[in-house]
Amino acid sequence: MVPSLSQEEFELFRHLIKKHVGISFSRTKMATLQRKLASRLSHLGLDSYHAYYQYLLRNKEGGWELRQLINTITVDQTAFFRHAKQFELLTNIVFPQIATQKKTTKKLRIWSAGCATGEEAYSIAMVVNENFEKGGSWDIKILATDIDTEDLKFAYKGLYARNCVEPVPSEYLKRYFKKGIGNDAGFYLVRKALRKNILFRRLNFMRSRSPFKSPVDIIFCRNVMIYFDAEIKKKLVDSFFHILERDGFLCLGASESLIGIDERFSLVGHSTYQKKG
Ligand SMILES: C[S@@+](CC[C@H](N)C(=O)[O-])C[C@H]1O[C@@H](n2cnc3c(N)ncnc32)[C@H](O)[C@@H]1O
Repeated sequence: MVPSLSQEEFELFRHLIKKHVGISFSRTKMATLQRKLASRLSHLGLDSYHAYYQYLLRNKEGGWELRQLINTITVDQTAFFRHAKQFELLTNIVFPQIATQKKTTKKLRIWSAGCATGEEAYSIAMVVNENFEKGGSWDIKILATDIDTEDLKFAYKGLYARNCVEPVPSEYLKRYFKKGIGNDAGFYLVRKALRKNILFRRLNFMRSRSPFKSPVDIIFCRNVMIYFDAEIKKKLVDSFFHILERDGFLCLGASESLIGIDERFSLVGHSTYQKKG
């Protein structure tokens, strides 16, 4: 039987999670948190939330169990070509602007920040390939990061079930995926040629500094900040502002906006913002 989480224990974990991950668990999510913590308790053979809390405190920052807890509490819901209108806007407005601005350096840097199991980063890589590679020798790098180590392993593999690749246009599916065989039958594997432009790395927004040496053209941070409170959102968007190129773009999730968060960006459309030069 799952032990029940007291109000005091809930507050302890809520504080710990917010400090390490940024995610704010509201009181209405107490049952969800209890279920997630209980799975870790049972895995470790512990019989109380207090014992688990003490166990976590004894683990150093970045310790194995803290990572397991983080993997358990993060929400990794995602999809290929999620928020399709934004991908159209990239092709019609964002890429042509960048192609003009960068026509001499031909260098393109993109960050998928909070990439979950990789569908977002591969979708970006496909549209980038369609829009830039045809024109010749662009130096393209896509950094895809997440705090969840299990999601990153999955993303790196690039093997997706048939129902997951349904939103991928059929010509892209042929060009960028291989049909799995043997044990992988019914799955689709991202081709190496597409994967080579993407670097998957663990990064915690609450701990890490910018992973870039030079400015970035587009940052995707979609459906990540919805779990953070206003103060953390502001700090994160401020760091994106400094990481972006002059006139760089910030793509948020369909239900997200920068209203009340940061006025140094203007809305281009479909939750896509441009840094004011
Ligand atoms: C709902 S998914 C969004 C995936 C993708 N961006 C999309 O829109 O389809 C949110 C992701 O944010 C990641 N995340 C949450 N807190 C984070 C943090 N502090 N640092 C880095 N990633 C975090 C989660 O692990 C999860 O994979």
